[in-house]
Amino acid sequence: MEPIRFEAEVLYVEDMPAATLAAEYGTPLYVYSRRAIAESWQRFDAAFDGFSHRVCYAVKANSNLGVLSLLAELGASFDIVSIGEMERVLRAGGRADRIVFSGVGKQSHEIEAALAAGIACINVESGSELTRIGEIAARTGFRAPVSLRVNPDVDARTHPYISTGLRENKFGVPVDEAMTLYRRAADMPMVDIVGIDCHIGSQINALAPFTDALARILALVDELAATGIELAHIDLGGGIGVQYKDETPLDIEEYAGAIRQAMGHRRDALWFEPGRYLVANAGLLLTRVVTLKDSEEKHFAVVDAAMNDLIRPALYDAWQRVTRVEPGPGRNETWDIVGPVCETGDFLAKDRHLSLAEGDLLAIHSAGAYGFVMSSNYNSRSRAAEVIVAGDQSQCVRTRETIDDQLRLERKFTL
Ligand code: LLP
Repeated sequence: MEPIRFEAEVLYVEDMPAATLAAEYGTPLYVYSRRAIAESWQRFDAAFDGFSHRVCYAVKANSNLGVLSLLAELGASFDIVSIGEMERVLRAGGRADRIVFSGVGKQSHEIEAALAAGIACINVESGSELTRIGEIAARTGFRAPVSLRVNPDVDARTHPYISTGLRENKFGVPVDEAMTLYRRAADMPMVDIVGIDCHIGSQINALAPFTDALARILALVDELAATGIELAHIDLGGGIGVQYKDETPLDIEEYAGAIRQAMGHRRDALWFEPGRYLVANAGLLLTRVVTLKDSEEKHFAVVDAAMNDLIRPALYDAWQRVTRVEPGPGRNETWDIVGPVCETGDFLAKDRHLSLAEGDLLAIHSAGAYGFVMSSNYNSRSRAAEVIVAGDQSQCVRTRETIDDQLRLERKFTL
């Protein structure tokens, strides 16, 4: 039985009706299923049985402490892009030596803190960053394990904002510069070359971009080996797509099969950085209809969640499924589901055929990744609560913000 499913038109998260959760915790509310996260993690992990591998959860997708502690317990490694994310992983019970540090703009204090904590690897994004890491390691006495993030120049054919592996993107080092940089790294006394890394984009539903990228990486691995630089691991990044609407996402076993085939007889350790795949479809955003409103052109359902809670529709024109959480009387129309924020771009969904009445509860599906983490206090809206469901139990893993929480760091101007 799917962890998130309808039974007789009633939406359940594991054994809890979504409506019961909304009644207990209020709306807007992010709800995650423990079983859904655990199952996708185990499926990803099992797909690479027989290979030495690490599944480094990309913390940016959902960095709630409850989610991180659950993944740490499952044995996940972690991919971070800031020292804030490192702190979250450590406080959630994750181990520093299972953290890889990615990101295009690491600051010196972050590099120093990461080395001091003993993280597994820094994915280096440029020559100047490599120099800086070498200097920090020499100054502090902490050795620096590094990979170079190589930009394999492949087209991931995804939304331009989330494509990262093309030459024109800001990410990584071009393949033809990588050799020179590796040689430079090899001469740096406090730097240890441990691997190679690439990440080509997000929500990728085809195999070819991944296998093309791997082929380029493997060619480089061979070239490096020929000059005496041996790597301990190959990090293939994240980016595996999920189903939001009618996409056909990659089957993870198929993805693994293609990678196994491309690896041939090689047995380098493989690292991955999946975010969305592990959590997107494990989460819902529950929201209540505040007002139904008609203009000459459109029917609007104004709900209590807004672009500050879930920005993906506004930012990427992303489509996420919207359903009622239980049946009931309503007006059958084609609705735009919009929030109360004062922006025309404040929509969560457009042109949805639903039967709605004021006070109804709706669920925005596939909201476990890049949902709460991208939320803000725009319009002085307090951020939503987050809950994890396990069987017939639920736990609040982030309390709903209050206006006092929002104002805690501010003061009146008195000069
Ligand atoms: N590794 C690196 C270096 C990344 O930059 C990312 C995502 C990942 C791993 C994880 O990618 P995933 O497996 O989740 O696709 N906010 C956008 C997605 C931005 C992705 C940024 N980088 C969205 O809501 O669609």
